[in-house]
Amino acid sequence: MLKKSLLVIAVSWFIVFSCNKQSDDTNVTPSNNGSTAYNDLWIPPTITGTNFDLTLAKSSKQLKTGATTPTYGYNGASFWGPTLIINKGDFVQMNVTNNLSETTTTHWHGFHIPAIMDGGPHQMIEAGTTWKPSFEVKNNAGTYWYHPHLHEKTFQQLTYGAGGLIIIKDPIESALALPRTYGTDDIPLVLTSRRFNSDNSFTVTEHAYGDYVLANGTLDAQVTLPKQYVRFRILNAETERGYNLGFSDNRSFYVITNDGGLLDAPIAVTRVKLAVGERAEILVDLSKDAVGGSLDLKAYNANQEFGFGGSEPQTSGQFGSLLNNKDFTVLHINVKAATANAITAVPSKLTTNSYWKESDATKTRTISITGGQAGSAFTFDNNTYGFTTMNQNVKLNTVEKWTVVNNNIFGHSFHIHDIQFKIVSRSSGAIAPYESGWKDTFYIRTGETVSVVAKFDDFASDTNPFMYHCHFPNHEDAGLMGQFLVTK
Ligand code: C2O
Ligand code: CU
Repeated sequence: MLKKSLLVIAVSWFIVFSCNKQSDDTNVTPSNNGSTAYNDLWIPPTITGTNFDLTLAKSSKQLKTGATTPTYGYNGASFWGPTLIINKGDFVQMNVTNNLSETTTTHWHGFHIPAIMDGGPHQMIEAGTTWKPSFEVKNNAGTYWYHPHLHEKTFQQLTYGAGGLIIIKDPIESALALPRTYGTDDIPLVLTSRRFNSDNSFTVTEHAYGDYVLANGTLDAQVTLPKQYVRFRILNAETERGYNLGFSDNRSFYVITNDGGLLDAPIAVTRVKLAVGERAEILVDLSKDAVGGSLDLKAYNANQEFGFGGSEPQTSGQFGSLLNNKDFTVLHINVKAATANAITAVPSKLTTNSYWKESDATKTRTISITGGQAGSAFTFDNNTYGFTTMNQNVKLNTVEKWTVVNNNIFGHSFHIHDIQFKIVSRSSGAIAPYESGWKDTFYIRTGETVSVVAKFDDFASDTNPFMYHCHFPNHEDAGLMGQFLVTK
């Protein structure tokens, strides 16, 4: 919930930046215990096939010196769960067991499946029970994820570490010469941050930002990678923080996927911004690096526009963080010798997408971000989320344009279940080429209007809704969520 203190923050931000030049501590990276020692990046184990058993339970992890940190994890993981690897076209059976002492849900983020299989707030898994959805995987090859989605508990369960990646494979992606040896030249990278209490437990009362970066649940993470093209599958799994990612020597790299699969062609960039819930797969060329050399993947988060999560100047409190308005390292990379059959080039062409155009839409709906002031929660169209309220009704097989209007005090991350869409306009200016592909989540700036187009096909139900919401889990929990039915 954003309180009026945000207005105070906005005001103090203007004071800070109108009076002072950026201080020289922009590159200071807080370290977990003041040392410069790195910890090896944890690579989640994989599960493949068509039958997936997931069990969520309490766990703990040694993160800081002293007491371990109480966490949640799937399948015995201490923070963040196994990576599921699934083939497009397979019919999969999921068995999700809840061994917590509280209710949860498990949502398959980005999947195009029936609402009742979706794992949103309505598909509750009571403590001690197993939920068994099954569905055909229709999505393109790409990087997706699963996470709890229980209304009013999403922030807390995510903060404890519940979640995992899903890699979908398909024949188009498999035919390309791309790095795909998981953990060797194809690296899962889940970025988030946490705040710690003095007993080393995570702070789970509402706050926007952690103070210490966790990469796959690893503090001060390092990885040793071969001297060749390497792929990262990056997910922003934060609360509110955005990441403006780049490498410490400003080298170019290539964005090859958006949330919903391959772009038509790789997009060369030196920075890519990921809001909460967004994914991008990138290729970076390490072939010219020296064996034994190193570089950093960094968040170049200093001096971002107000409303970009983590741009606030303060270092503590509900909207403060030791990482705010700074450039900081998210992953230290050491370079070793190339592997056999290394990938040494970037394909010039990836796939051929046929995207929806604005003119394809036969129905337009406008959703406004409201509230968020004078101690109130953010809302859509002045309605807080209601479990039994259907906010939108979509006719099956309609191509629709959804226009999200954010005449409000902060940026957000907007996510729609069921579909992958194409961003067709941003009132702030051009759509970045690296976000020109299939998306299920997008960053919306303060004062911005963004339109997306999608077809709502395949799955209809008169009773089971899909969600749309801000993917900041604290905003979603506080009511910045709505639901829609797709009916025949
Ligand atoms: Cu990533 Cu509605 O969820
Ligand atoms: Cu939000």
